[in-house]
Amino acid sequence: MGVQDLVYWLLSKPAVSRTLSRTGMRSGFAHRFVAGETLEEALAASQRLAAGGRRVCLNHLGENVAGEEQARAAAESYVEMLRQIRQRSIDGNIAIKLTHLGLDLGRDLAIQLAGGIAAQARELGLSVEIDMESSEYTSVTIDVFEAVRRKFDNVGMAIQCYLRRSEDDLKRLEPLHPKIRLVKGAYREPPNVAFQDKAEVDQNYARLLDRLLDGPFFPAIATHDPQLVDYAERRIANKKLAPDRYEFQMLFGIRRDLQNKLRAEDHPLRIYVPFGTEWFPYFMRRLVERPANTLFVLRSLAAEGFFAGKRH
Ligand code: FDA
Repeated sequence: MGVQDLVYWLLSKPAVSRTLSRTGMRSGFAHRFVAGETLEEALAASQRLAAGGRRVCLNHLGENVAGEEQARAAAESYVEMLRQIRQRSIDGNIAIKLTHLGLDLGRDLAIQLAGGIAAQARELGLSVEIDMESSEYTSVTIDVFEAVRRKFDNVGMAIQCYLRRSEDDLKRLEPLHPKIRLVKGAYREPPNVAFQDKAEVDQNYARLLDRLLDGPFFPAIATHDPQLVDYAERRIANKKLAPDRYEFQMLFGIRRDLQNKLRAEDHPLRIYVPFGTEWFPYFMRRLVERPANTLFVLRSLAAEGFFAGKRH
């Protein structure tokens, strides 16, 4: 059993995940990757990042809502985020997850709600990025994106380089000239769907980045991998790409050293700032990416007496 399997196994134990969700914000370890539970905390974090010359992408954490009412409430919260970003003159946009907007209940609802958010964003002069979720949602996410993007050019989406299909997806998206946030991919996928080997994922990242840089896209280079960042910087310099034609993106709390380096070199950088009470699945994806991260969680739990049998 690898470390990742062990983490997944531990998380399947309700006592472990219950304790983590309950104690994460209080004992502080969730703050490593999540700006807070409220919009106010996320806006404060965004203002601090903006003072350091970063753009932000705010995300209200949540996925796979069970009913239409929750989906509509999520859509409302995104619109409020847009209003607050504009009101406080923050250089930012928002990221949405379609399963947070009721994708499991039907694509029409997701198109309607995502379209409503895009319309509001356009009115405020802001933009929206659609996150990519696990592979069962890839096709339908692209369908929804295409439907919304045909009406609103202020909408972009994420594409995952670990998926074998992604090169074809980029070809399909070319006619829309969209902003594409290129990521490696954060979900657990089977070998027939996704490359499993880091070297293969990295190779595909470079290949798809070339396609973005050479094609009719606005590339958002979303990785903390220093080698890929280096590769992108070289390609950008060779192409003499102006800073308004691309951006780098990184996640809140990850590789601040690399974030500082990019800013020192005057590259545009956007930080993805997640917040909300539903932070647990996002937090777990960050944990599984770097098994070393589990150490600081285990330390916090130990400090709270979890292993001594104290339940909170
Ligand atoms: P890689 O995992 O190889 O890490 C490179 C280096 O970064 C590591 O050596 C380490 O130093 C640091 N690092 C990476 N992850 C870390 C962590 N969790 N903790 C501490 N250090 C870490 N995924 C997805 O499926 N759908 C999406 O919509 C998005 N959206 C998104 C937006 C943005 C702005 C970013 C940066 C990433 C995403 N992702 C995502 C997540 C992405 O798919 C991927 O899981 C992570 O970015 C980690 O991969 P890296 O490219 O950083 O490389």
